[in-house]
Amino acid sequence: MRTVKFGIIGCGLMGREFASAAARWCHLPEMDVKPEIVAVCDTDSEILKWYTDNFSTIGQVTDDYKELLANGEVEAVYIAVPHNLHAEFYCAAIEAGKHLLGEKPFGIDLEANKTITDCIKKHPEVFVRCSSESPFFPAMQRICRMIEKNAFGQIMEVNSGFLHSSDLNFEKPINWKRMLKFNGEYGCMGDLGMHACHVPFRAGWSPQQVTAILSNIVEERPDGKGGMAPCETWDNATLFCVAEDSASKKEFPLTIKTQRISPGHKNTWYFEVLGTKKSARWSSKQINTLELLEYEGGEQSWQVIDMGHEMTYTSITGGIFEAGFSDSILQMWAAFLYELHHGQAPGKFAGCVTPDEVALSHELFTAALESEKNNSVCEMKQ
Ligand SMILES: NC(=O)c1ccc[n+]([C@@H]2O[C@H](COP(=O)([O-])OP(=O)(O)OC[C@H]3O[C@@H](n4cnc5c(N)ncnc54)[C@H](O)[C@@H]3O)[C@@H](O)[C@H]2O)c1
Repeated sequence: MRTVKFGIIGCGLMGREFASAAARWCHLPEMDVKPEIVAVCDTDSEILKWYTDNFSTIGQVTDDYKELLANGEVEAVYIAVPHNLHAEFYCAAIEAGKHLLGEKPFGIDLEANKTITDCIKKHPEVFVRCSSESPFFPAMQRICRMIEKNAFGQIMEVNSGFLHSSDLNFEKPINWKRMLKFNGEYGCMGDLGMHACHVPFRAGWSPQQVTAILSNIVEERPDGKGGMAPCETWDNATLFCVAEDSASKKEFPLTIKTQRISPGHKNTWYFEVLGTKKSARWSSKQINTLELLEYEGGEQSWQVIDMGHEMTYTSITGGIFEAGFSDSILQMWAAFLYELHHGQAPGKFAGCVTPDEVALSHELFTAALESEKNNSVCEMKQ
């Protein structure tokens, strides 16, 4: 069993998820590589106590990411910091020779993403991937295998999205994800978009043009100090794309929807493929349920399948038990480590988002901003 010693930079919400996944690695009995958290970095010292209370393997605690990157024991890093810091932190990690799983959107804007992409190209010895756990649910992986086998026939339409709802509460205080300076112009697309793009891009369905409808619904929020602060970023985005299937060269409509205000949707991923031979749809609202329509002439009827624990990276959990968010995080981390160790993922859809895929998401979100600004259809540069 190879052990990869990790540092975590940015130890908030997502940093804890990774640490917790590392702590239950024994859940994955067939993995021959495992992570060990040896260093943590955050400017908020309060947040680090949870780590040092729970992980005896941590030998370095710092508020300076450069100190962590100078630690020779650290082989790889997970970086989960606000978007304005991505380019600086990711490039520094790559230049320090650390393998990197970086959080999306991988740069606050197209320019920052290009800086990271250029840095990756100069350091091919470093393994770099972007975080997105959305395809690692059992139903999504089943749909992915169907895509791989061309089971859908001609693709007629694909709808993919990620919906949140807590911002419907106008009293919710502002946080960095609602501020231009930290979150960037993409707004909800930067926050949520990579998840919705992951499977379409991996499938080879690339947007050729986009028409975007972006909404800033809540223009100010409580600042947490008794006043109000401007809430500058897009709350909701619906991208109507014409996509091309790279294999058949046929075009079809693809919608990518990312919303912070989708009433009733606490955290809903959904995905739908409509094809001439088969159609499939899944929503994390009914996490265990895959809907499938197989057409061979005659009656058209949707079947409903309970997925249970059909995981890409074998888990000790019994096959009948449903999967949850933390299982998808564990699977994503298995994907990262497997590919780091073996040089390739065990299947087309069993790997994390690549730098090329994340770059395409930036092209799409930038085109969406242009479409909104000019009230136009924006052609994508390929
Ligand atoms: N994959 C997912 O499902 C998912 C979910 C939420 C957020 N994210 C992404 O994760 C990243 C972080 O989001 P989060 O929700 O964990 O945010 P968070 O605010 O909970 O955590 C960010 C942490 O970064 C720390 N930080 C800020 N500046 C720093 C600096 N200079 N040096 C070291 N630490 C610093 C903060 O103190 C904070 O603890 C973002 O890129 C976000 O888009 C991904």
